[in-house]
Amino acid sequence: MSSILTGITTSGSPHLGNYVGAIKPALEKIKESKKSFLFLADYHSLIKQQDPLLTHKSSLEIASAWLACGLDPEKTYFYRQSKVSQIMELNWILSNITSKGLLNRAHAYKAAQDLNSEKKQKDLDKGITAGLFNYPVLMAADILIFDTDIVPVGSDQKQHIEMTRDIAARFNHLYGETLKIPEALISENTPILLGTDGRKMSKSYKNYIELFSEEKALKKSLNQIVTDSLMPGEPKETKNSVLYNYFQAFATEIYLEEVNKMFSNGKGWGELKSDLFDLINTELKDSREKYFYFLNNANEVEAILKKGEIQASLLAEKKLIDVRNKIGIKPLDEK
Ligand code: ADP
Ligand code: TRP
Repeated sequence: MSSILTGITTSGSPHLGNYVGAIKPALEKIKESKKSFLFLADYHSLIKQQDPLLTHKSSLEIASAWLACGLDPEKTYFYRQSKVSQIMELNWILSNITSKGLLNRAHAYKAAQDLNSEKKQKDLDKGITAGLFNYPVLMAADILIFDTDIVPVGSDQKQHIEMTRDIAARFNHLYGETLKIPEALISENTPILLGTDGRKMSKSYKNYIELFSEEKALKKSLNQIVTDSLMPGEPKETKNSVLYNYFQAFATEIYLEEVNKMFSNGKGWGELKSDLFDLINTELKDSREKYFYFLNNANEVEAILKKGEIQASLLAEKKLIDVRNKIGIKPLDEK
C-alpha cells in the first residue's frame, strides 16, 4: 500500500482535461492507497497568472470540484499549498541543491524561451519570471514533503516528476537517505485531452471546456469541436480526430470498441457529437449538482480545508525537522 499525492493549479476553472488527467485517476487510486494528499497549488498559480480575483475564484472552484467528484476529507489530506508553509521552506532548501542546468531543460521554461525566439526577441529570457524558472523545485517540495510514493498526473507533467526524482536523489546523496523517490502514475489509456482549438486543453490557453458547465453549455462546447467535412455514410478516421480524443478519454474499453465501429461505418459527425455529449453528461451529472452546492457554500469548503491544513502541517513539520537536521539547522546543544 502506497501513498499518493497530486495537485491542480488555481489559475482558472477546472476543466475536462483536469478531470481525466488528474481528478478521476487520483480518486480511483486513493481506494488502494494507505495515505492520500490532494491539494490546490495556489502558489504555483502565480506563475501562470497574477489576477487576485481569478486566483480566489479558482481556488473555490477547484476545491469544490474535488469534493463534488467524491474526495472524502475524512480519508484524504486536503489542503491549500499556501497554508502548509513547510512546503515553501523545503522549496528554498531544495533550490540550493538543484543545478541551474536541470531547470534550463524544463519544458515550460524552454517553451517560454521558444516563444521569445519566434518573436525575434534578442533577450530570450524577456518576460520570464524566476517563479516560472523555479517551478519544478516547488513541485518537488510539494511531493517530497509528504514522502509520496505515487503521483497521478497527465503526461504533460512527466518531466516534472523526473526532475523531482533527480532532486531527491541529489539530496540523499549529499545528506544521507532522507527523501523518498516518487513514481509518476500516467494512465496509458488516457490521452492528453485537446482543447477546442486542437492544442492541449489548458487553463493557460483559454481553450478549455469547463468540467461542470451546465448541460446546455456543455452540449454547445462539444458541438464546436472541429471535424472534417465528411458526410454521414463516409468512413471516418479516428487518427487525429479531436472528437475521438474525447471518446478515448471518457469511454470504457468496450464502448470505445463500439465507437471505433461507428467511425469506420461512417456515422455522421452530428450524431457522434450527440453520443459524446450523452457519454460525458451521464458521467458528470450527479457531481455537477454537488459542485454547485459547494460553490454556494464556500464556508463549508473553507472549514474542510482548514481542518486538512492543520493535519497536513503537522505531518510536514515532522518531515522538515528531519530535513533541517540533515543540513545542520538544529538546536545548538544537539550533536
Ligand atoms: P492547466 O494546464 O489547465 O493549468 P494544471 O497545470 O493545473 O492544468 O494541471 C492539473 C492536472 O491536470 C495535472 O495533473 C495535469 O497533467 C492534468 N491536465 C491538465 N490539462 C490536461 C489535459 N488537457 N489532458 C489531461 N490531463 C491534463
Ligand atoms: N504542476 C502541476 C500542473 O501544472 C500542478 C502541481 C503542482 C502538481 N504541484 C504538484 C501536480 C505536485 C502533482 C504533484 O499540472
